[in-house]
Amino acid sequence: MLAHVLGSSFALLMALLVSPSPLFAAGDAAHGKILFALAAGCGCHTPESGPIGAGGGEVKTPFGTFYAPNITPHAQTGVGSWSDEEIASAVRDGETRAHGIEAPVMPYYRYAGMSDVDVADLIAYLRSLSPVDKANQAHRDELPLARLAYRGWRLLFGSSARRGREGPKGGVERGRYLVDHVAICGDCHTPRSRFGEPLASMYLAGTRQGPNGKSVPNITPHASGIGDWDEADIVNLLQKGRTPDFDNVQGLMADVVDGHGGGPGYKDAPEADLRAVAAYLKSIQPIDNTVTAK
Ligand code: HEC
Repeated sequence: MLAHVLGSSFALLMALLVSPSPLFAAGDAAHGKILFALAAGCGCHTPESGPIGAGGGEVKTPFGTFYAPNITPHAQTGVGSWSDEEIASAVRDGETRAHGIEAPVMPYYRYAGMSDVDVADLIAYLRSLSPVDKANQAHRDELPLARLAYRGWRLLFGSSARRGREGPKGGVERGRYLVDHVAICGDCHTPRSRFGEPLASMYLAGTRQGPNGKSVPNITPHASGIGDWDEADIVNLLQKGRTPDFDNVQGLMADVVDGHGGGPGYKDAPEADLRAVAAYLKSIQPIDNTVTAK
């Protein structure tokens, strides 16, 4: 009897170890492309002139200059030989098999809340891209003992976001999910402490010291933010890059709306999702913060 129980437990254990986990078994690349659009085409990973995912985007920070790696399915220079679990861990937990803990330049602590189904679909889409043979560029001027510092950062500021099997399906809750964990609007629109930690008390309130030292507007529903925009104005901006006073957004915002290297961006996301984002933005705490461009 005992031998039988042990034998069947062993068989079960082996089955769990060798079969792909059901979590990642059925990634849907077509839905993954929609997520990729909502994630602004994972823009840092695509050079301006393409091809999608080939890596090389430069991000300058006070902690060094970083180059986004190749995320195409090339076996040697991309992530072609990584398992789905390994890619998911890099996206949501900031840990890669090659380098250990990632620098928080990669916003893994925001993607941490991305649902299992969504991350599986996103990975299926990445696997459908053309493999590009392009070696990664080493980061420059990183902190001494950088990997240790990144581990410490994750410990102190990493997310404890709870993730579900699926993301919320609609309404303001879906908007919150998309803003915080997929489209990561806060990555640019929320100011950071000098340790690079996003300041919760200034959530989406803009800053003069945004990415690459540029200013980023306040998008909370305060008069100093976008309090006088209605939901249709916000959807219109995300689809066309145009503000209610017929200004075209520039720079990083234009990049995330358009997508990078001919790939999808916010403009290609389903309108229902963009409406959910707009409804959520109208529901958040208004913060008084006038950001003057520089
Ligand atoms: C990669 C950085 C980045 C990300 C990600 C980003 N934005 Fe922006 N956003 C900017 C910058 C920079 C501007 C200013 C553009 C300009 O001045 O032309 C801007 C402008 C805007 C504006 C116009 C505000 C105004 O007062 O004119 C809105 C609204 C906006 N963003 C909403 C969003 C939303 C919603 C998301 C997420 C779905 C988002 N942004 C994601 C960088 C970003």
